[in-house]
Amino acid sequence: MIFTIAIDGPAAAGKGTVARALAAHYGFTHLDTGLLYRAVGAKVLAGADPVQAARDLTPDDLGDHLRTADIAAAASRVAVDPAVRAALADVQRRIARCDGGAVLDGRDICTVIAPEAEAKLYVTASPEVRADRRFAELSARDPNLTRQGVLEDVLARDARDMGRAEAPLVAAADATVIDTSDMAIDDAVRAAIAHVDVILAERA
Ligand code: CDP
Repeated sequence: MIFTIAIDGPAAAGKGTVARALAAHYGFTHLDTGLLYRAVGAKVLAGADPVQAARDLTPDDLGDHLRTADIAAAASRVAVDPAVRAALADVQRRIARCDGGAVLDGRDICTVIAPEAEAKLYVTASPEVRADRRFAELSARDPNLTRQGVLEDVLARDARDMGRAEAPLVAAADATVIDTSDMAIDDAVRAAIAHVDVILAERA
């Protein structure tokens, strides 16, 4: 079965958690596309050329070690480059249409990578709530982080991701919006599953 669930949204809105839960629920492949940009960002911090780094990326480059504030900022800087985005597009499209179903989360999945996706979600939350969540996630590993610093990083990344010319972050006109500002993440997952169930039932 070919079935793509495309999820976009700003930093720390909960889209990764929703994407992982949907993939587990339906037995679909999951690709966190932000990790691709983070891996390129990490290589650039280490001195690599961004486009070459994107072309040379392998699965071994991906992992949770990329989930730091510095690498997130570097990812959003390399993500404005159309040549970097182009180098990462094919692998994302291949996975989106792989047999057995796929969930992809990122910034341009509904709009650019998989506009044909059967299910489209835009997961968002207020900047303050997102900063609180990201601070809670990262502060144990990085004692130098402050909540205010994380909020500033989130706002700077929003501005760069939404303001860039190539594939800016925007809610697709046909995406269902889930605002998790006042929602426990389990409720967001339930809302996403309910939405996808309706689409699957219509196709059955
Ligand atoms: O986890 P979080 O939402 O904070 O970020 P991420 O999804 O890992 O993405 C890191 C950065 O990569 C974003 O701020 C974007 O600049 C970029 N990105 C993108 O441009 N397009 C995507 N499909 C995914 C990520």
